[in-house]
Amino acid sequence: MREMVARCRELVETIYIQYDASHDLDHIDRVMKNAEKILLKEPAADKLVVQLAVLLHDIEDAKYEAMHEATTNEMLDQIGASADLSAKVLSAIESVSFNGGHAKEITSIEGAIVRDADRLDAIGAIGIARAFAFGGARGRKLYDLEEEARRTMSASEYRAKETASVTHFHEKLLLLKELMVTTEGMRLAEERHDFMVSFLKQLKNEIE
Ligand code: ADP
Ligand code: NI
Repeated sequence: MREMVARCRELVETIYIQYDASHDLDHIDRVMKNAEKILLKEPAADKLVVQLAVLLHDIEDAKYEAMHEATTNEMLDQIGASADLSAKVLSAIESVSFNGGHAKEITSIEGAIVRDADRLDAIGAIGIARAFAFGGARGRKLYDLEEEARRTMSASEYRAKETASVTHFHEKLLLLKELMVTTEGMRLAEERHDFMVSFLKQLKNEIE
């Protein structure tokens, strides 16, 4: 099992190296740490499924798909995962994406853990850093006082609009705390959420 996880990490390295700092290998490693914390409180979950899903969860991210041709399935084949294991990993990955509020429903505890672990890395101090890194990589404005945050939008509207980074806090990051599924995920989200709220308050004081 260890070997499969190590081999998978080696394979994904060459892919995440092409992504900007918001979704690089350090993101994957942080999500792994978050997932391991949650796993300690969810003993019924299959650790191997969670670990592989964490390593592979951003391979087919639509935001980066133009950068490489590898598929999650190929990676699972290359590490010798059985059909049953691959199906569980793919299913856990499926419900990770926020998709402008149109995430697929969680169907397993492993899926819940991976999604909560990924979302924890989208909030708090690290979430703030990543939002501005993503915005910077795409040439977005830091903030736009004229721009209204959308409350409802289709998945394609969510992707299509080049919003300022601060707008993204209102369209996604501040919503995540309420969307956590595991008890440990919810607990860990609290402090991170509050930190984003104080950050936005301070930012407002400085720029208005
Ligand atoms: P998912 O891929 O889970 O659907 P997102 O597309 O919202 O989620 O993006 C994942 C992360 O990328 C966000 O948490 C944020 O750090 C960054 N990001 C995505 N869209 C934006 C944006 N418009 N402005 C700033 N950061 C963004
Ligand atoms: Ni991710």
